[in-house]
Amino acid sequence: LEMSSLFDLCSVSECPVVHLVMESTLTARDRVGVQDFVLLENYTSEAAFIENLRRRFGENLIYTYIGSVLVSVNPNKDLEIYSKAHMERYRGVSFYEISPHIYAVSDNTYRAMRTERRDQCILISGESGAGKTEASKKILQYYATTCPVTDHLSTLRDRLVQSNPVLEAFGNAKTLRNDNSSRFGKYMDVQFDFRGAPIGGHILNYLLEKSRVVHQNHGERNFHIFYQLLEGGEQNLLSKLGLERNAQKYQYLVKGCCPRVSSINDKNDWRTVRKALTVIGFHEDEVEDLLNIIASVLHLGNTQFGEGKNGENQITTEPQLKYLSKLLGVDGAALREALTHKKITAKGEEMISPLSFEQAVAARDALAKAVYGRAFTWLVVKINQSLAFKGSSSVIGLLDIYGFEVFQHNSFEQFCINYCNEKLHQLFIELTLKSEQEEYEAEGITWEPVKYFDNKIICDLVEGKHKGLISILDEECLRPGEPSDISFLEKLEDTLGGHAHFVTHKLSNGKTRKAVSREEFKLIHYAGEVNYSVNGFLDKNKDLLYRNLKEVICQSNSQVLSQCFHREEVTDQKRPETTATQFKNSLAKLIEILMSKEPSYVRCIKPNDAKQSGRFDEALVRHQVKYLGLMENLRVRRAGFAYRRHYETFLQRYKSLCPGTWPNWQGRLADGVATLVQHLGYKPEEYKLGKTKIFIRFPKTLFSTEDSLEARRPALVLTLQTSWRGYRERAKYLRIRQAVIQSAWRGMISRQKARRRRHAVDIIRKFIKGFIYRHYEHCPENEYFLDHQRFSFLMMLFRNPPKSVLDKSWPIPPPCLTEASEHLCRLCMRNMMRAYCRRIQPEWKKQMEQKVVASQIFKDQKDSYPQSVPKLFVASRLNSEEFNLKVIQTLGNDKVKYGIAVTKYDRRGYKARPRQLLLTSSFAMLVAEAKLKQRIDYATLRSISVSSLSDGFMVLHVPSEDNKQKSDVVLQCDHLIEVVTKLATMADKKIKVNMSQDSITFAVARGKEGVIDFTSGPELKVAKCKKGHLLVTAPKLNP
Ligand SMILES: Nc1ncnc2c1ncn2[C@@H]1O[C@H](COP(=O)(O)OP(=O)(O)OP(=O)(O)O)[C@@H](O)[C@H]1O
Ligand SMILES: [Mg+2]
Repeated sequence: LEMSSLFDLCSVSECPVVHLVMESTLTARDRVGVQDFVLLENYTSEAAFIENLRRRFGENLIYTYIGSVLVSVNPNKDLEIYSKAHMERYRGVSFYEISPHIYAVSDNTYRAMRTERRDQCILISGESGAGKTEASKKILQYYATTCPVTDHLSTLRDRLVQSNPVLEAFGNAKTLRNDNSSRFGKYMDVQFDFRGAPIGGHILNYLLEKSRVVHQNHGERNFHIFYQLLEGGEQNLLSKLGLERNAQKYQYLVKGCCPRVSSINDKNDWRTVRKALTVIGFHEDEVEDLLNIIASVLHLGNTQFGEGKNGENQITTEPQLKYLSKLLGVDGAALREALTHKKITAKGEEMISPLSFEQAVAARDALAKAVYGRAFTWLVVKINQSLAFKGSSSVIGLLDIYGFEVFQHNSFEQFCINYCNEKLHQLFIELTLKSEQEEYEAEGITWEPVKYFDNKIICDLVEGKHKGLISILDEECLRPGEPSDISFLEKLEDTLGGHAHFVTHKLSNGKTRKAVSREEFKLIHYAGEVNYSVNGFLDKNKDLLYRNLKEVICQSNSQVLSQCFHREEVTDQKRPETTATQFKNSLAKLIEILMSKEPSYVRCIKPNDAKQSGRFDEALVRHQVKYLGLMENLRVRRAGFAYRRHYETFLQRYKSLCPGTWPNWQGRLADGVATLVQHLGYKPEEYKLGKTKIFIRFPKTLFSTEDSLEARRPALVLTLQTSWRGYRERAKYLRIRQAVIQSAWRGMISRQKARRRRHAVDIIRKFIKGFIYRHYEHCPENEYFLDHQRFSFLMMLFRNPPKSVLDKSWPIPPPCLTEASEHLCRLCMRNMMRAYCRRIQPEWKKQMEQKVVASQIFKDQKDSYPQSVPKLFVASRLNSEEFNLKVIQTLGNDKVKYGIAVTKYDRRGYKARPRQLLLTSSFAMLVAEAKLKQRIDYATLRSISVSSLSDGFMVLHVPSEDNKQKSDVVLQCDHLIEVVTKLATMADKKIKVNMSQDSITFAVARGKEGVIDFTSGPELKVAKCKKGHLLVTAPKLNP
């Protein structure tokens, strides 16, 4: 089993398929050593650690992880691993899926920023020449190339990238350690919008090593820009600046005796820087001012002092002074004065005193450093203005700061640089431990803290209030009297003597005394011991520029200089902060910034001091591994659990090793993983189950699991092959089967359709023939048609029979069914009538019976009959209260069944009299008030006469045998049809009702007759006419 194949096992990746694919892309070379130190079995062995680095370095595999920390070894040669294709390979791929790379860290950080919407930072550390700046450039390049960018934003992207060559030209220099050593600290924020496109940036710069402007150690150079300008600047530019194309001519450039470096092409770099300045958006005037400042520094370096006629110290190099006044835009005489004199205030009075030769040189150098230093800061401010974006954004911060460095002679600058590294180391330890601990806590895993060296004690030694090195230095700088570097050293000894990390010549014992000279103090840093020479500490900390020099520069008419030196500065009485305190405060701010972000780490290692490729100096590497705390880092990572993986991913990969989880686990993921590891025989101390992840303590546990998977693979492959073949064959068979079934089915359907068509044709043919023969006798030709006709008719009747007795509609039958249809119609009607009659209520039945009688008597006979049909007959037109009691009493058992108010006409004279006509079951009677006027037994009632008009007259014909008995009665009433019907019904229809057209004759007395004439007129009128007849005029209601 290749160790490297295990990388994906501890990855946070969720997709095992990708793992396999990616793994297969690893070449044999990629698999040299382990890609993650966490996988080192012998993880406590420094030798094993370094051997792994060495083996990989030998194969140009310069990147290795410790968990999520990237360790990078400087190859000191160009490797073909930074192409666009490489960038694409790492885009969106999980951290461990392919071989370790700076792009993997870049991409991971970028994705974390986008998905978690949390600001990120990448901390790049390592000693000088280890590759920090290169790494930060690679990261920036990665973002510039892979992040989405619009036309509008591409300018900004170019500015971001182009800020590097400019800052390197002004802030980097060749040192003994590194041909392109950063002599300033840089923290750069890259801002991204919600789409992940870079939209802005901001740079924070830290303490530039200004002393380099005036002095370089042997073998070192000044800042690149000086050489670039001299090498690359056009002739007329140099002439304008008063410069010669020869670095040897400049005092500030010759101290290190190293004007040329083989790895550096100043001429090309000049072109790059000029272009970059334009891209960033520097105005031509600004560039001119900037170059004037650079040239003026060179002229300052060549400014010499000598003794004048009167023994005074004076400037002996007039041309330099001329150029200086022109380039700095200041008054020549004032500058001359300021470079050779100082202004002091004594007892409230200002006095000018001449400077000694040494003082003048120091003042000149201080001016050169101040001018250059401030120009550098101005440059950063300008770059920030061109990258500025105000609005909401997500941020990735890149920290590329000068690495821990130890020279033969270390001064104030090294002290600051190493203090800075001390602080960053503390942050690293705290954050790596913290994040690890947080994960265990989040997953509910109990965890014992790992012991590690906490360098807080050293940080406190340097920065502690009152008793810290910086405090003492400040105090010494500011105290009255004659403080010196040596008095500072003594003060240190007094205050810090006995501190475990602080040693001086005086404080050390006989054995170690030699290692520290009398002007040095030794700090035992986390990364090693460093002797610092106190020489220059006070001056560098005060960073003093004589006030009169400052005044002159503040009056400069150069745009850039006036922005660098504010006029208020001269009048401001407040003592400026010392360099060390400024640095301390800016570091505290930096730590705050970094703490607020999610960190990723790149730890750079330098394989040799000679900047050679392919050389791996074990001792040197061991030293760096030690002070970078890499072993501790590994221990912390391993002391907990070497691997952690989401349940789902773990189960997905190893489920085939347990029958309980193969092929699929249905329950909770955690239970699945528990089942799996139980089956695999994991011992309780070997693993822990968190909330979402399994944590495995030892690599060997996972190795053996991976071994089992490897062993199981052939069987799995076989199973997969068999299943695949089976599946394929079955699929084929199913396809064929489906095809056969389909064709059979289609045949059947077609046959069925054909049969139906044939049948339809037969029927249509029979139908047509039958239609032709429809009037013939029943014969084979018309048999179908007639049957169909009969069937249709009967079905139609069946489906739509008449709905009510009143519905007289009946379909027309086909000729052959005429008779049957009539029968059916009758039957149907009778049925309906029967059903109707059954349904009828007794009340209604009585009504209907009376209406039938009325119909029999009056239908088509009397004009008012149709109007009477819808009017219901009532039981009586008089209420019982209207009957006279006396009359009722005379009736005895007979009950009045019907009563109505009538008008009776006298037979003689036709006088009209109001009467009540009361009907009992056997007689009718006329009543006036309480008097029974006439009783007519039904048995004696011969007939009733009415007219055919709409009048209400009726004559009851009663035979009178004698004169006593009253004869025919002429009555007029409303509801005539009702009254006559009731009378006729009660009299049991024995009575004949005569309907007369124009007159009714009635008996007045024996032998004597009266006549009523009827005629139609507009309205009802009753009158006696001349003939002695009663004339009734009635309107015609119906035509
Ligand atoms: N990944 C790399 N590939 C090729 N060469 C590299 C790589 N990293 C560094 N180098 C070489 O090493 C040199 C020093 O690297 P770099 O300037 O990044 O060091 P540094 O860590 O920034 O040092 P300092 O602290 O001095 O600034 C580079 O100029 C380059 O030649
Ligand atoms: Mg650097």
